[in-house]
Amino acid sequence: MRGKGAAALAGVLSSVLVLSACGGGSDSDSAGETNTGRGPFTFVTGKDLSGIMPFVAEEWNKAHPDEQVTIKQQSDAADQQLSDLQQHFQAKDPDYDVVTVDVVWTAEFAAKGWIVPLKGDLAIDQGTLIPATVEAATYNGTQYAAPYDSDGGLLYYRTDLVKEAPKTWEELITSCEGKTTSGTITGSKPGCYAGQLASYEGLTVNASEAINAAGGTIVSEDGKSAAVDSAQAASGLDFLVNGFKDGYIPKEALGFKETESLNAFAAGDLMYLRNWPYAYAQLSGDSKVKGKFGVAPLPGPEGGGASTLGGHSAAISAYSKNQASALDFLKFLQSEEIQRNSLVKGAKAPVIASLYDDAELNEEFGYLATLKESISTAVPRPVTPFYPAVTQAIQTNAYAALQGKSSTADALKDMAASINSAAAGG
Ligand code: GLC
Repeated sequence: MRGKGAAALAGVLSSVLVLSACGGGSDSDSAGETNTGRGPFTFVTGKDLSGIMPFVAEEWNKAHPDEQVTIKQQSDAADQQLSDLQQHFQAKDPDYDVVTVDVVWTAEFAAKGWIVPLKGDLAIDQGTLIPATVEAATYNGTQYAAPYDSDGGLLYYRTDLVKEAPKTWEELITSCEGKTTSGTITGSKPGCYAGQLASYEGLTVNASEAINAAGGTIVSEDGKSAAVDSAQAASGLDFLVNGFKDGYIPKEALGFKETESLNAFAAGDLMYLRNWPYAYAQLSGDSKVKGKFGVAPLPGPEGGGASTLGGHSAAISAYSKNQASALDFLKFLQSEEIQRNSLVKGAKAPVIASLYDDAELNEEFGYLATLKESISTAVPRPVTPFYPAVTQAIQTNAYAALQGKSSTADALKDMAASINSAAAGG
């Protein structure tokens, strides 16, 4: 990310704190009493797309015969994972002991007292981690969750179709001419570009990346209001909107979440794919593009794309009876053994900063420096306990523009109005 993106990052970073100060639900310190219970527990997490969970469970269970972990996998889509957690927390389910928290859920879970603060006896030293990952697990100055994987957007490109990855949107679009079909991926050639453009959290990520890359921001610098109704935001969103109009994004992408978009690229049906690091493992395995793809930074209008910060941490439920075992499990997820293996086995982005400079890992994963850059310059999404309503405002209106049901200008106006009402608590 270059100048404009960096300015966007600074803007969002300073603004998110104000939105978070709105509070919501019960006070964070009223989270359930911590206890020192030990025993078997459940780790509830999204579908294991990188296939590392059997290894995690086996390693833990080998060393903890009386504190066995059961891994419960949810859907592969962020929105469904969230509603499952909300339902179980509302029911005070003691069986959801440790839960995976997407970077954008920390504020809501903390504000509602669903997860326990990691302080006092539950404090974990986070000194070796990438600061942005710890920041994303912190709410109102208190850490609530232990980051265990990070995520930054990457551009996957077909090395058999193009020599070098495009640095700008223009280069990307031009490079597709003659090599791809227009409008759909059902033709004899692949389609040009896709990301996660169905109406769900992934669209918030992709739309924010386009908007931030063009120098726009979602919320204002003082964080008091939406700032997305701007010319910069419009030109950013237009990269996606025009993709459907001009045919460089196939219309199938309106239904793409992570899995569908990855499957399309893996089947040889796309020249370019925006996805997270884990895609590398699947593409290098059983895929038609094995050995025929490269990994590059996201392009932008003038050469510098802006990644949205993703990633996950693990938190201890306020209703868990075995919080001492749960705490040890959090530390285990952050251990160098698990972090290294998550990268090696599943191409997950580690949270331990030094692993990005490890010579052996760099040899195996030639794009590690690109990934580190993507994560360290990534723009966070707004931090607020009302995030579900804020993201709804972003995705619904962006989707209307992508479908051509709303002009870009109207979509951004409506998005700004809905963000303002969401951030005000309804
Ligand atoms: C990835 C990211 C997460 C994001 C989600 C959107 O899982 O790590 O932060 O919310 O994708 O689909």
